[in-house]
Amino acid sequence: MTMRQELAESPGVVEGLLVSAQAPLGLLAGEVRRRGTRFVLVAARGTSDHAATYAQYVLGARAGLPVGLATPSLSSLYGQAPRVADALVVGMSQSGRSPDIVAVLDDARRQGALTLAITNDPASPLARAADVVVSLEAGPELAVAATKTYVAELAVVALLSEALRAGERDPALGRLPAALASMLELEPSIVRLADRFALAPACVVLARGFQYATAREWALKLKEVAGVFADPYSAADYEHGPIALAEPGMPVLAVVSSGPTLSGMVSLLGRLAADGADLLVVSDAEAARALGTGSLALRADLPEWLAPIGAILPCQLFAYHLAVARGRDPETPHNLSKVTLTR
Ligand code: F6R
Repeated sequence: MTMRQELAESPGVVEGLLVSAQAPLGLLAGEVRRRGTRFVLVAARGTSDHAATYAQYVLGARAGLPVGLATPSLSSLYGQAPRVADALVVGMSQSGRSPDIVAVLDDARRQGALTLAITNDPASPLARAADVVVSLEAGPELAVAATKTYVAELAVVALLSEALRAGERDPALGRLPAALASMLELEPSIVRLADRFALAPACVVLARGFQYATAREWALKLKEVAGVFADPYSAADYEHGPIALAEPGMPVLAVVSSGPTLSGMVSLLGRLAADGADLLVVSDAEAARALGTGSLALRADLPEWLAPIGAILPCQLFAYHLAVARGRDPETPHNLSKVTLTR
């Protein structure tokens, strides 16, 4: 099983979650309402941490819940966990095994907080530590680079926001499997783009809002799989300093969604294009794509809050094909193994 085969399973995984995640998330949402929980803390590492970034936007915008990222070493190394009894504490991990993430849930449960595990292994230590478990049901993920489990984590977070809102389910959720499947059809264009960017040793990856998670996850995949030093930024942070390093020919990858972030992204990318940056733009908006020397079209029928679930697929495929174009084996990232246990 390869990274490429596993990422292609994502549409089916999401289709399954639309059904299987409903009961545990309904239970959790009922408990959030009963307790009057007003904020969320997420403990996660690597790829799963980027799904936590998505949760900051989705649960903030759609459920009115501020989401913070946990500080695991306070539990696992310092023995000084902050007071979290009033929070919903979420551990998100495909393996469910990293001891520092489990330690956050252990502490939270000891304090009486409501705890949720989102994991691909419902028998893992993380699952055992939580009050409610949502299994990602992604099937075994053997490639070192996580792909379908990231997509599944995003889908669970999106469904959690929906469970917390109650009422009718947004029909756009039902469009996800087909939208994801259509992203895989971009592969021939992605191969051509990867060949074109093969010689770039470094790049920046920009996005804003809901897609910031996509920029971070794309950059991680480019580093670990393709061996490219990729530096991700919120476009706002980029303008507050790193833009000073922009120079003609610099590769800039950007993920842009229609919505409140579009005009700012278009104006930033316009500035970079005028400076001679080599722009690859992934977007549903023609105004953004037109600024790229290369572009990939995202589906226009997903609302902004769901767009990151579709957007990451072409980015994962690009990292895979960039690795191949650079003569690297995407299955054997340097220095990495599938499960990383940090304390
Ligand atoms: C990246 C990757 C790693 C893992 C990270 C956390 O492709 O696979 O960043 O996401 O080691 O692993 P889990 O989610 O198992 O805690």
